[in-house]
Amino acid sequence: MKTTVNGSRLTAHELKVYIRTFGCQMNTRDSEIVIGMLEEHGYKHTDDPKEADIVIFNTCSVREHAEQRALSALGYLLRRGAKHKKRIFGVMGCVAQHKQEKIFKSLPKLDFICGSSDIYNIPLILSQIINEGKVNVVSVSKKDRGKRSIKNINPSYREKEKEALVNIMYGCNNFCSYCIVPYVRGEEVSRPVKDIVEEITDLVSKDITHITLLGQNVNSYNGKDGKEDIDLIGLLKQLNKIEGIKKISFMTSHPKDAKPSLFKAMRDLNKVDKHLHLAMQSGSDKILKLMNRGYTSAKFIKLVEDFREIVHDGKISTDIIVGFPTETEEDFNQTKEVVEKLRFDNAYIFKYSPRPPAKSSEMADDVLIDVKKRRHSELLELQREISREKKGKKFN
Ligand code: SAH
Ligand code: SF4
Ligand code: F3S
Repeated sequence: MKTTVNGSRLTAHELKVYIRTFGCQMNTRDSEIVIGMLEEHGYKHTDDPKEADIVIFNTCSVREHAEQRALSALGYLLRRGAKHKKRIFGVMGCVAQHKQEKIFKSLPKLDFICGSSDIYNIPLILSQIINEGKVNVVSVSKKDRGKRSIKNINPSYREKEKEALVNIMYGCNNFCSYCIVPYVRGEEVSRPVKDIVEEITDLVSKDITHITLLGQNVNSYNGKDGKEDIDLIGLLKQLNKIEGIKKISFMTSHPKDAKPSLFKAMRDLNKVDKHLHLAMQSGSDKILKLMNRGYTSAKFIKLVEDFREIVHDGKISTDIIVGFPTETEEDFNQTKEVVEKLRFDNAYIFKYSPRPPAKSSEMADDVLIDVKKRRHSELLELQREISREKKGKKFN
């Protein structure tokens, strides 16, 4: 079939698609699904943006910097005249979900915007643009975003040969006050156990041996197995039995829902990775409360101690935000003290940025940027030293 791409004659199988992914593993998985669906529709995937007919940016809104980076990289491509090559340009992901038509105002040459809620529409959107000549297509759904994501469509494309990401839940109900994710990804929904097991069994038949289970808070996984409710521990037990899997990882865990029973399962289930990513965010009880995290610093410390006692060879990584509104030097020092005490194997440290409509965006962003920068580099340096020491020890 002959189709027209912005003027040039092409057959569908000649069209090459390139996707650049920003943000978390869920976006990485979404990109895989889109590439896989498009391959099934006859498109070809390319890692080289220069040879692509269709360029899609899969964006992240979690921090202002992440959002800006994606939009300015795309703006640069569009301004540089990359558009003259008769290409189709689209934005998908969380920024698309969040900003919708506003993106067209700054990037009018864009052909389509597709929210995280609507990724399954991308083949249709492209066909509308290519075959019907539609322009500025928007596909963003506000309602039931979590539920819309649960479609059991798993085309075979995977980025890696031996490892695979598998969604076990979508969305988030936690509404940490700084976080935009619940607004862009919608309410929390768990996938049924049967669908997850089927997907993984299929992956194993394709020689995949390492599975990473994905969710914003996998500790609150609550999927149906027939009529029975299954939690994360129950799911891990079932997956551990699947022959051919060598390693099962999961991310991410919320401290308010992580329990010693999970740590015991991590210890006892031989295929489960002994790595826990547990975001601390702050060591100050005042800040944790303002963040709506649902735990105190003492509770977090106890949890890490429990984990280490139960899972002897376990590793812990964390996320920390510096410069949350009203964070004083005293609050920051409390965070540093906990980092010194707990000696994480790794820590991702972020400078706070307000993300409307997340609740904390109503507070004044009152920690000066220079102070945020200084706290960020102090903590980074502290953690680097700890990570270095811990890595060194491993080889002694
Ligand atoms: N669901 C995951 C976190 C996803 S977002 C969890 O709860 O563990 C990844 C990290 O980005 C968060 O843990 C937090 O540290 C950081 N983050 C989120 N919103 C932010 C904001 N407004 N400013 C700075 N960092 C932020
Ligand atoms: Fe955001 Fe909190 Fe949900 Fe993680 S648990 S995605 S930080 S609201
Ligand atoms: Fe970013 Fe969306 Fe993931 S905001 S962190 S890509 S869920």
